[in-house]
Amino acid sequence: MEPPKKLPLLLLLILSSLTPLATADARAHTIDTFCTTTLEHNRTAVVTNFISDEGRIAEQMQLNGFGVAALGVSPDMIYSLAQCYGDLSLLDCVLCYTEAHSVISKCFPFNGGRIYLDGCYMRSENYSFFNEFTGPQDKAICGNTTTAQDGVRFATLVKQTVSSAVVAAPSSEGYARASATMQGESAYVLANCWRTINRSDCAACLSDASKAALGCLPRSEGRALYTGCFLRYSNTNFLNAIPGNRHSKGNNNYHRTHLLTPIRVLISWIAP
Ligand SMILES: *[C@@H]1O[C@H](CO)[C@@H](O)[C@H](O)[C@H]1NC(C)=O
Ligand SMILES: *[C@@H]1O[C@H](CO)[C@@H](O)[C@H](O)[C@H]1NC(C)=O
Ligand SMILES: *[C@@H]1O[C@H](CO)[C@@H](O)[C@H](O)[C@H]1NC(C)=O
Ligand SMILES: *[C@@H]1O[C@H](CO)[C@@H](O)[C@H](O)[C@H]1NC(C)=O
Repeated sequence: MEPPKKLPLLLLLILSSLTPLATADARAHTIDTFCTTTLEHNRTAVVTNFISDEGRIAEQMQLNGFGVAALGVSPDMIYSLAQCYGDLSLLDCVLCYTEAHSVISKCFPFNGGRIYLDGCYMRSENYSFFNEFTGPQDKAICGNTTTAQDGVRFATLVKQTVSSAVVAAPSSEGYARASATMQGESAYVLANCWRTINRSDCAACLSDASKAALGCLPRSEGRALYTGCFLRYSNTNFLNAIPGNRHSKGNNNYHRTHLLTPIRVLISWIAP
């Protein structure tokens, strides 16, 4: 099923060391990480299965920016999911994933964990969690600065921009970015669901995540770390430049809302 050609991981890592601009945008900074609280059943088997998952996923990440694997035999079977957010290049995606699985592997001897980075997400468990989109660990993390000159205007702009991305993402393979500038205030938003959840669950996840993140206002930065999705708003442009034509669909929808200000919603996705 998999295409025969793929860039070896080593080559990607060498290329990345030659292109500092790409690495600067890898967004491989960890926002938060949680380990499960259940000890693994059989350390040898769980670690072996986790390492096998990692390898399977690494191959898929290089091609798609997304990967799942479920290897081993229950109760030691390990299910893993990793996904880069939609604005990352495949090179940055591999760098982010490298960081993600190295951090999450520190969860052992617990039998799983999840990690949110600024560019990607990874989760491993000993059961199939792929359809989950909500859970008790869902939360927002707020920035600690408030730099808007006009907090009310900034809040209005962020709410509109978040709403545009939240509306657009579920029907765009779960990913949308949006940005807007109004009278000296700017808002940049990224909304991304994991590819294993369907449209309606993606919409539900982003609806909850956006409410949580908007609770950070008037702070300049808010992130929601949810079981099925990730959302971030900021007053600074953290989004990567829109990549040129990807070899596949490469759809770039352009959508304007006519409220107080035009909001740009650009939707593109990593080729499946
Ligand atoms: C743990 O798993 C390893 C590898 O699958 C197996 O060889 C070993 O017998 C298992 N140990 C126990 C106590 O089940
Ligand atoms: C997950 O692992 C725990 C022990 O670490 C075990 O009790 C539980 O049955 C496992 N779950 C599944 C679905 O295998
Ligand atoms: C604000 O956050 C930054 C980075 O998140 C951190 O380095 C800094 O210490 C924080 N400042 C305060 C006052 O908490
Ligand atoms: C979406 O997925 C969930 C979980 O798998 C399922 O319960 C629900 O019926 C699905 N919704 C639609 C519209 O397919």
